[in-house]
Amino acid sequence: MTTQMRWLALIGTLMIVAGLGLALFNEPARQVAAAASLHMAMVAEGTDLYAQNCVACHGASGEGIAAYPPLTTAAAMDAQLIYNTIDRGRYNTAMAAFGVDEGGTLTAMQIDSLVVALQADTWDTVAARVAELGLTPPQITVAEIPAETFTLVATMPNGAALSAGLTVYAENCAACHGANGEGSTLAPALNTDELRVRLSDADIARIIQEGVPGTLMASWVAALDPAEQQAVVALIGGWGELNAAGVTLPVIEAAPLDTSPQAIANGQRLFGLLCTQCHGVDGYGSPIAPALNNQTFLSETPDAAIQQIIAGGVTGTSMPAWGGYLTDADIAAITVYLRSLQATAPIIAPAQP
Ligand code: HEC
Ligand code: HEC
Ligand code: HEC
Repeated sequence: MTTQMRWLALIGTLMIVAGLGLALFNEPARQVAAAASLHMAMVAEGTDLYAQNCVACHGASGEGIAAYPPLTTAAAMDAQLIYNTIDRGRYNTAMAAFGVDEGGTLTAMQIDSLVVALQADTWDTVAARVAELGLTPPQITVAEIPAETFTLVATMPNGAALSAGLTVYAENCAACHGANGEGSTLAPALNTDELRVRLSDADIARIIQEGVPGTLMASWVAALDPAEQQAVVALIGGWGELNAAGVTLPVIEAAPLDTSPQAIANGQRLFGLLCTQCHGVDGYGSPIAPALNNQTFLSETPDAAIQQIIAGGVTGTSMPAWGGYLTDADIAAITVYLRSLQATAPIIAPAQP
């Protein structure tokens, strides 16, 4: 072998080694790129599944709606625990089992994607996607407390606790129990002497902590910290003093609804598609679900309450929560459609609870 040939051989070997090195170096890079694109695909799929199945309770940004817990700490949670929660649900809570093997609709791969999406911690992107799909749930109605009310309450004995309680109440409870605790078609009054005689502070605290299973009254432990729970207990216990001092809060005004013929027609179409199988044609009722084309129901139930029932469903019954499937505008359209039936609705005795 000449010196020149040796050199060529050496260069050749070096080139092969370098090439191999490059290939070796490239292999993990390729794997990393593949894993990254799989991860992105799972986040995208999981985000859409979240929008379609979860926003009604956990919120468009994972912030948790009303008494439902936030999921914004999912990145720090154990992935297997999240998987099991979605797959099997949580016994005796509104968190249903979504896994196909448990009677739900999601496959194991879809639940895997949900777990990856929740742990990706990209809640701004999730909220944007939810909005893009038109699935942002309706806002929970919040009562406004005027500054003068706080000033008046502050002068009362126990004023600090009562003010704190009013704030918690206005934000979380007024939509169902009424701005002044007077009750609504959704929930009983909380401002009566009768209630204060029947329930001790400990009883009230327990109801707030545990909720009343099978009713719209959820457990509030995830949404309210112990101080907030205590404040609202003090408010309910002290409502007699508020009544005596003449403290009243403005009644919640529902946002004006689009009552155009197009909105009513859209509501009628949606009702035909989604509601007649249970509530009967034109809402006349069926053995499975009560009549909505019903003078008593329509005249006693304000628009805001109808929207809230449609969005939130009725826990413990077959009435689904539509907030995750229908937009705000769709729910409003169904509400104006139901309202349009009121003029001719038959008088039907209210269903017994
Ligand atoms: C009807 C309301 C509702 C819907 C819809 C819902 N959840 Fe939940 N979820 C809950 C409630 C209530 C809890 C708290 C259960 C408990 O007390 O342990 C919960 C808990 C969870 C938890 C555990 C949180 C923790 O801190 O331990 C995860 C994770 C979760 N849900 C994910 C989902 C996902 C994903 C979806 C959609 C596929 C979904 N949920 C749909 C009501 C709901
Ligand atoms: C989505 C509607 C809804 C919201 C919001 C709501 N509740 Fe209730 N609440 C109900 C219903 C319905 C009942 C009646 C349950 C039953 O049939 O026993 C109830 C019952 C109660 C009772 C027992 C009343 C009695 O006479 O036995 C208390 C106390 C109470 N709620 C407090 C609260 C507080 C405090 C909040 C806010 C932190 C709140 N609720 C938010 C629907 C709601
Ligand atoms: C799978 C059956 C089912 C479907 C589908 C269904 N509902 Fe219901 N709905 C019920 C049941 C059952 C109740 C009664 C719950 C209870 O016991 O309080 C109910 C109650 C209601 C109520 C409260 C009635 C009252 O008297 O308090 C309204 C409003 C309502 N549904 C609207 C709708 C709308 C709008 C749709 C379609 C978007 C719909 N429901 C679809 C089963 C259903």
